[in-house]
Amino acid sequence: MIAGKTITLIITGSIAAYKSAELVRELTKSGAKVQAVMTKSACEFITPLTIQSLAGSRVTVDIFDPSSEAEISHIELADSADVVLVAPASADIIAKAAHGVADDIATTLLLATKAPVIFAPAMNVNMWENPLTRENVTKLKTLGCDFVDPGEGELACGWIGKGRFADTDDILDSIRAVLSPKTLAGARVIVTAGPTREAIDPVRFVSNRSTGRMGFALARVARWLGAEVTLVTGPSEIASPQGMSVVRVISAQDMYEAVFEEVVRQDTGLNKTQFVFMAAAITDHRPAGASATKIKKDKSKTYELKMEPCLDVLQELGANRERIEDSSGLALKLVGFSAETGDEEQLLAWAREKLERKNADLMVGNFADDAFGQDTNRIWLLEKDGRQEEVSTAEKHMIAGRIIRAALRV
Ligand SMILES: Cc1cc2nc3c(=O)[nH]c(=O)nc-3n(C[C@H](O)[C@H](O)[C@H](O)COP(=O)(O)O)c2cc1C
Repeated sequence: MIAGKTITLIITGSIAAYKSAELVRELTKSGAKVQAVMTKSACEFITPLTIQSLAGSRVTVDIFDPSSEAEISHIELADSADVVLVAPASADIIAKAAHGVADDIATTLLLATKAPVIFAPAMNVNMWENPLTRENVTKLKTLGCDFVDPGEGELACGWIGKGRFADTDDILDSIRAVLSPKTLAGARVIVTAGPTREAIDPVRFVSNRSTGRMGFALARVARWLGAEVTLVTGPSEIASPQGMSVVRVISAQDMYEAVFEEVVRQDTGLNKTQFVFMAAAITDHRPAGASATKIKKDKSKTYELKMEPCLDVLQELGANRERIEDSSGLALKLVGFSAETGDEEQLLAWAREKLERKNADLMVGNFADDAFGQDTNRIWLLEKDGRQEEVSTAEKHMIAGRIIRAALRV
């Protein structure tokens, strides 16, 4: 998606400017052409030479420099961009952009460009929360600019709060979101991810090896494609992606409740379909009657754990299709996942049996060892009409794209 695209990157005078070096590296690694522009203040924090070496092309700093204007003019920098990215974006450039100021190369090209513009602000928390900055951000958002919101934490200035330059991954995600075709525009997408944990006592639990990567990839790709996304995830170390609502749960029962609360919510917008991707590895059985206090160890004893079934969220969704569609006003498309061991024939037989029994529209079959804890996956897509397709090993966000394409088709 980013490969082959031209990104005009504006670096401004923030203490986070040094992080733009990593951003340039990741963009070029993804196959983008980076045309960097630096404000005079940005050059106080990082040298144009560093950025130039990483971008592999000249960095423009001075609008009145005849040699850079001859090589690539400020208008070409504005016109040739697929995306203009301001990262890090100072409070100053946000204010200037919101008011149409054009007093240097960065602000002039921002005023001249017709390309989508993304700001990734970084500043002191009080600057970020200042009503003037809030007003400027709102104005730019209203005008169609995108923002990768700053994170919270300890800031370079010593304050703690919102203002940290967003992670490179979140910035790349926003570029992908801007560049992707909006095949899911107007759709609601609910994705479940990760494992669930079932308590044995307050400190012990039963769970599985799922990390959440497949579900998070699905949620991110659905967002790139323009969907309104809710990610319901069990315990996962992956940070919440931007641009979607993220609900964190612990147990299978929590996940059931969170999913049902979401699917029956009435939609008053233009949406016509809601897709539910059940990528979570929800625990099938839980300890019956978890102990309220920590079970004391006694190494002379053998313990038996009595297990009772958890609710099967996909099956409940399939069985309540009509009720969900009536109350949400949206057509429901259910995508299940079947993680198996054994051979391919068994995997396909089990996945197809689940597709039927759970009344799903699409089943994604995969081997547990290919899926759990990996950045890649290999899947089989099984449709109701008997069709099936193998998707060979690829990065999980590529796999997510294939699953979404199939869900749009069924
Ligand atoms: C050490 C130092 C760190 C700064 N960090 C930030 C920052 O993180 N965010 C910000 O908006 N301004 C920051 N500033 C202030 C800007 O550099 C200043 O407003 C400048 O005029 C911005 O110019 P520009 O928007 O043309 O790059 C910092 C200034 C100094 C001296």
